[in-house]
Amino acid sequence: MKEDKKFHIQTMGCQMNERDSETLCGMLAELGYTRTENRQDSDVAIINTCSVRDNADKRFFGTLGQLKKIKEQRPDFIVCVCGCMMQQQYIIDTIKQKYPWVDIIFGTHNIHEFPKLLKSVISEKEKIVDVWKDAGEIVEGMPSKRLYKFKAFVNIMYGCNNFCTYCIVPYTRGRERSRCPEEILKEVRALAADGVKEITLLGQNVNSYSGSPENDPDGKKTDFADLIYMLQEIEGIEKIRFMTSHPKDLSDKLIQAYTDCGKLCANIHLPVQSGSDAVLKRMNRHYNREQYLALVNKLRDAVPGITMSTDIIVGFPGETEQDFEDTLSLVEEVGYDSAFTFLYSIRRGTPAAGYDDQIPEEVKHERFDRLVEAVNRHSAEKNAAMKGRVERILVEGPSRHDKTTLTGRTEGFKVVDFEGDESMIGTFRDVLIIEGKTFSLRGKLV
Ligand code: SAH
Ligand code: SF4
Ligand code: F3S
Repeated sequence: MKEDKKFHIQTMGCQMNERDSETLCGMLAELGYTRTENRQDSDVAIINTCSVRDNADKRFFGTLGQLKKIKEQRPDFIVCVCGCMMQQQYIIDTIKQKYPWVDIIFGTHNIHEFPKLLKSVISEKEKIVDVWKDAGEIVEGMPSKRLYKFKAFVNIMYGCNNFCTYCIVPYTRGRERSRCPEEILKEVRALAADGVKEITLLGQNVNSYSGSPENDPDGKKTDFADLIYMLQEIEGIEKIRFMTSHPKDLSDKLIQAYTDCGKLCANIHLPVQSGSDAVLKRMNRHYNREQYLALVNKLRDAVPGITMSTDIIVGFPGETEQDFEDTLSLVEEVGYDSAFTFLYSIRRGTPAAGYDDQIPEEVKHERFDRLVEAVNRHSAEKNAAMKGRVERILVEGPSRHDKTTLTGRTEGFKVVDFEGDESMIGTFRDVLIIEGKTFSLRGKLV
């Protein structure tokens, strides 16, 4: 085999997948592979897929189709596909039928077995499909090649038990499992020792984190707020963020933690999905509009200046014009700093896929446009109000749009672009906000 083996990885979907890809990169590095950004040039290509909406599925099949040419030119080029799409049998069947040249199909529950699968495909020259239906024990201590030097994602739990009726995630990621607190602390201490200053705790619903002590699974459980207090004590870590938090489980204890723990950033992503009680009920969200708004007020009273973002789905089955207007009025009432807006997408196997009152595409799109107008108007207003403030920013790197500018985020998670030199990357700097745009801020070093 040639000496300088290279791999290419493409990650779709959420931070869970980003984190899994870091683990895959870590394992490949241990096997002697280096990463390349050019797929043409790679010996092994991985696509880590997302299945949350139909356009994610489509994008995957589009990309996969392109790989066929490379495979034809170089038969020893190895194509691996993994992630949430692979947890669905009909996807595996489609790949086997239409893309039979794919070498390895594996799932979200057996990432740790990837080196074994890869070695086996190389030596045996036979294709492998290995997708576990259920999650096994949480595997700790896996290698990782982190995406960023100064900030890191930390999984605190896996899976989801909420079964929102539109959502595929509980089926692709399995039931909720929390890591034990000692393992999380050990990982974060190691990250801090390695120069990481900001951590983002990951889980589909971090509010229901419930960690058992390592040697005593029946012992006193650590809840999410307890965990924040513990992490607050770790020297070197200066900022703590988390996502995502489900409104139904957000505790007063967590709100108190914002006050007590200086490192916890004054920002929350609190997906509302809809402003209509009827829709929320059919989505199985377990809160109503009034409870959600009360929570927003409680957070704003307790945490001055807290920024808020959300996720909203338009065109859920049965959504009437009135239901949609309830969503619009909720957006006006809350005034989010930003919001992710989605057209409802039918996911095979979820309860809502079987509802017979699906909304016509043109109605969905028309509502979507009205929603985006409201959301963007509030974002622009909130960002404009930042003008004149000085924010302490962790400099993350050159801006995505313009390599001569640096970028970072405010405590409230707003992107700021400013002039500076690359030696500042990884340090905290005070930046004066000079302009607020719809999706970002412009600043100046002070
Ligand atoms: N666990 C997180 C969300 C994970 S999915 C939470 O509960 O907040 C991210 C977002 O995708 C969801 O909040 C939802 O707004 C959106 N989403 C999920 N399934 C969808 C579907 N079938 N159609 C459209 N949007 C969907
Ligand atoms: Fe999906 Fe709901 Fe779980 Fe979030 S909480 S991952 S939206 S089922
Ligand atoms: Fe997508 Fe799976 Fe995340 S479906 S959004 S990658 S958990």
